Amino acid sequence: MKNITLSDITIGENTIIKEAMRVIDLLGLRLVYIVDKENKLLGVVSDSEIRKAIIKGVDIKEKVTGILNPAPLVLKSEDLKNPYQRSRMVRELRKKMPGSEYILVVDKDNHPTELIPLKNLDIKLLNGKHKNGGNNKHILVVGGAGYLGSVLTEKLVERGYRVRILDLLMYGEESLKNISKNKNVEVVKDDMRNISTLVKALADIDAVVNLAALVGDPMCKDKPEMAIETNYLANKALADAAKYHQINRFLYASTCSVYGESDDDKELDENASLNPVSLYARSKIQSEEALLDLQDENFAPTILRMSTLYGHSHRMRFDLVVNTMTKNAAIDKKITVFGGGKHWRPLLHVEDAADAYVKCLEAPLSKVKGEIFNVGSNLQNFRIIDIANAVHKIIPDAELSIEGENNDPRNYVVSFSKIEKTLEFKAVHSLESSITRMHRAITQGEIKDTNDPCYYNVKYNFHAKSEE
Ligand SMILES: NC(=O)c1ccc[n+]([C@@H]2O[C@H](COP(=O)([O-])OP(=O)(O)OC[C@H]3O[C@@H](n4cnc5c(N)ncnc54)[C@H](O)[C@@H]3O)[C@@H](O)[C@H]2O)c1
Repeated sequence: MKNITLSDITIGENTIIKEAMRVIDLLGLRLVYIVDKENKLLGVVSDSEIRKAIIKGVDIKEKVTGILNPAPLVLKSEDLKNPYQRSRMVRELRKKMPGSEYILVVDKDNHPTELIPLKNLDIKLLNGKHKNGGNNKHILVVGGAGYLGSVLTEKLVERGYRVRILDLLMYGEESLKNISKNKNVEVVKDDMRNISTLVKALADIDAVVNLAALVGDPMCKDKPEMAIETNYLANKALADAAKYHQINRFLYASTCSVYGESDDDKELDENASLNPVSLYARSKIQSEEALLDLQDENFAPTILRMSTLYGHSHRMRFDLVVNTMTKNAAIDKKITVFGGGKHWRPLLHVEDAADAYVKCLEAPLSKVKGEIFNVGSNLQNFRIIDIANAVHKIIPDAELSIEGENNDPRNYVVSFSKIEKTLEFKAVHSLESSITRMHRAITQGEIKDTNDPCYYNVKYNFHAKSEE
């Protein structure tokens, strides 16, 4: 984070609430101080106070002075040298504003004179603070019980975030068995298609991650109405409600499936033309467009077009290409590739995908606001046959056969240079180690019955086969 100066963190008394929120979001400090024309401190306003005011019906075009707290916790310059007074103020600030990193110093006439990082004042107080990231911020993860969501939630909690999961628990709650006992995790079992559920779920939230969807082409084909409601309409309503409440950091799970069918092996970046071949992909494109339309000075959607995921998760899925092949090789001793396996598919380990969300949550807002990122690794664009060979190498007693026609037209080589450069994102998990890990889980009894419907999206009330 760049050095924050007094002028960054103070705004004039005529500033409107929306502008105050924009300053708060861009600085990432959760508050801003208000000064009068003589540069005397009038008070402070925090992001959560703004959101509370909005819920009470205050208009964000009103002046911020109408909602400011006139008694902010600041250090008088004469107290700066008094260790007792200093640490008392810092303690109080930490209690009232967990995650605070700075304290404002004012002179005897109440003019701000200095902004001091807390770590320069009282080192002991930092013991309880997480090394990175979270700082007690409260994240709503919609779809947090799923394949990706359960891994992401665990990571967020480890980094010091509080997480509220809103999820229908379509595939059960086994994935949250351990994490739901954590005091920083709250699980709301409900349907995001319900507007009052959405609004309640947003209370006291700092950022939203929306992962909930009917995932996969066959599943959406089977239940088009529910797919349109969840994947598009409910996402749009969620984003609109977040924007209304000035919860401006909003991450959306899209997919590289939006590139659909491409004829050549040219790498597709975020500006490439889209060629969806399913309702699933179309619903994701419609959602992307709706989110970008909602963007304004404050509302900052970020779209993560993910590769096909693989690997072990708290909610295992055996309907994703690598996981399916590994399971079939381990159980049936067969790896089947349809139609020659020439089609390209970018892959990403589910843990790496979760790390990309953490990167986006912790990046300065200016780097991710309104951005679309392909999420994956330039080293992990594979042909389907390469995936089969990788599985075969680890499970050589399985028979590899190439059969019949491929009925999945998706074929895309994707460039991940933007996320690598902008956010320094690097996938660290390899296909081979992940296949080995899943093979062990299947053969050593960690996963008891690989046919259990909870491992297949379409088996939830549906009958077709799914793959992201
Ligand atoms: N898994 C992949 O390979 C992959 C690749 C690219 C993009 N994505 C996207 O990432 C996101 C997460 O995928 P996943 O693999 O974890 O899927 P998942 O099916 O395991 O998880 C989706 C979760 O959303 C919940 N959900 C569905 N409808 C809901 C509703 N109406 N209200 C509340 N909760 C609801 C489900 O209960 C489930 O827990 C999805 O949006 C998907 O489109 C996934």
